[in-house]
Amino acid sequence: MRRLTRRQFLKISGQALATSSIGYSLLTPLDTPVAHAQGVVELDGREMVGRVGGTFATIQVVPSYTKTSVPVVILGKVQYSTDPSFATYLESTEVAADYYVWKEGGKHVGIDGSLRLKVNSEYKFLSWNWEIEPGDLIYNKTDGSTMVVSSVVNDRVVAGTLSGGVGNRWNHGDQWELYRTYYRLEIKLSGLIPSTKYYYRVLLRFEGEPYASPRTAHSFQTRRDVGGPFSFAIWADLHRNISPDRPQKYWNKWNALAEKLGNEPVDFIIDVGDTWTLCGGQGTLLTKGLPGLYSTVMRPAQNGYSGYRGVSDVCAARPYYLARGNHEGISNYDKAQTRDTLRTLMKLFVPNPNGTTYPQGGSTDIDYDQGYFAFEWGDALFVVMDVIKYKDKPSVNPSPARFHIGEAQLLWLTAVLQGSSKRWKFLFMHHLFGGGSTYGRGGATFAFDYEQSQIQSLAEQYGAHVFHAHDHVLAKGWANGVLYYCCGCAWGLQFDYIAKNYAALYPDGYTSTSCNSDPSACENNGYVVVEVSSTQVKIQYKSYLGGVIDEMVLT
Ligand SMILES: [Fe+2]
Ligand SMILES: [Fe+2]
Repeated sequence: MRRLTRRQFLKISGQALATSSIGYSLLTPLDTPVAHAQGVVELDGREMVGRVGGTFATIQVVPSYTKTSVPVVILGKVQYSTDPSFATYLESTEVAADYYVWKEGGKHVGIDGSLRLKVNSEYKFLSWNWEIEPGDLIYNKTDGSTMVVSSVVNDRVVAGTLSGGVGNRWNHGDQWELYRTYYRLEIKLSGLIPSTKYYYRVLLRFEGEPYASPRTAHSFQTRRDVGGPFSFAIWADLHRNISPDRPQKYWNKWNALAEKLGNEPVDFIIDVGDTWTLCGGQGTLLTKGLPGLYSTVMRPAQNGYSGYRGVSDVCAARPYYLARGNHEGISNYDKAQTRDTLRTLMKLFVPNPNGTTYPQGGSTDIDYDQGYFAFEWGDALFVVMDVIKYKDKPSVNPSPARFHIGEAQLLWLTAVLQGSSKRWKFLFMHHLFGGGSTYGRGGATFAFDYEQSQIQSLAEQYGAHVFHAHDHVLAKGWANGVLYYCCGCAWGLQFDYIAKNYAALYPDGYTSTSCNSDPSACENNGYVVVEVSSTQVKIQYKSYLGGVIDEMVLT
């Protein structure tokens, strides 16, 4: 494999490139100066903390992608200390970024002999934010030429000059190709002391370059000892993306929420799903191909929007755990390519544990092993479940019975609950394994229905409680001493719940978070903070404006 130095990378990722020679010349740069942040590896978002235990933690960073088929070599390490001034510190080993090269391709659907590439309506240069811009290179595989884009005419047409090939024109049916290479650095810290606050700072460099200054320092807490009180937060249904058909994402309000939550003294955040909205509700990819999904969903969520507020903004300073929602796809009935695209995005950008991270284990599925897992913290057991992967397609099984636990997950859950002596046990799932509709709606009322009844029976036996999401409302219900808590909504898509007759799904009542209902309930968008001690659990639902909307205590 050819490896690029940073200097080579700067050239090929710059704006003013031309092609030379015959054939596949995507990686042939001219010696043209380009504007670039010298010596600094740019990231999409901040660092994120993931997979923290008593003695270990991982820090994940996502460098900006390159428009290349050959990965740039990016190296990183972390300095960490219990001293916020870093007077003394330890250093992780240096690691190289993982990368994933995506080839996107299609056929020119315009006229013969054109200097303009016209793509099929399945592809869009602009609204999917592939970030095609002047200077980018698009390969004409059919005639061997390479186009240097001079202008983006509209979302399906780009103009430019072609060279290095036979015709140096686009003819109807010519095959085009472009590349995006994505990166992820996962830096492991080990030998940590349990129940201790650590400060860390990331250092990054391109191969052949010295390290730039350390990035801003952040902190995290290692696993609390038994008897140590702590808090954690839950957020639900963020629905962060910039899908062209749903432009209203309440970014300013999301910014306010992220800032409020970022100031909460919580050890970690559990995301109960529908944050990285890669799919429609039934699992259909939001856009074709990985580049579109990354640019319209993953990066906006990771990076925030206009205010640099995103998931990584909050989770630079506390671990992030995801219980995947229906919009984060990966179901066994997906076509292989769909599953592979989703899995790649999730593995690259979401630092979830896998089945080997913690002694409690989890998924060992070969195709995606980050769907369910569990860990202990202080006096509590946390179990993240996967309600998405083993479900049936609605066309095959059009009933709530389609949400399967899967034999392996059920056996694992049983063993984990059985094996834990923790005072508190919490189960997190995007929605119930069944519910009151084929879409998995509803809470405690449906605890005894479909496969949820198996979860309910284990929860009763071992004293567990359930936190779920999906319905975008705050709701609390009880089923034989098991709490079902629907975690509200952290600025996702707003339904008018009254019109949707949610009263039938939540007969014990619910609190709307809908901006569309009358009266509007926008102020009820927020997040959950749970304070855990050996004797009680206090659950607060907080508005993004800062006030406590609801409070309950378990003893
Ligand atoms: Fe949702
Ligand atoms: Fe959902």
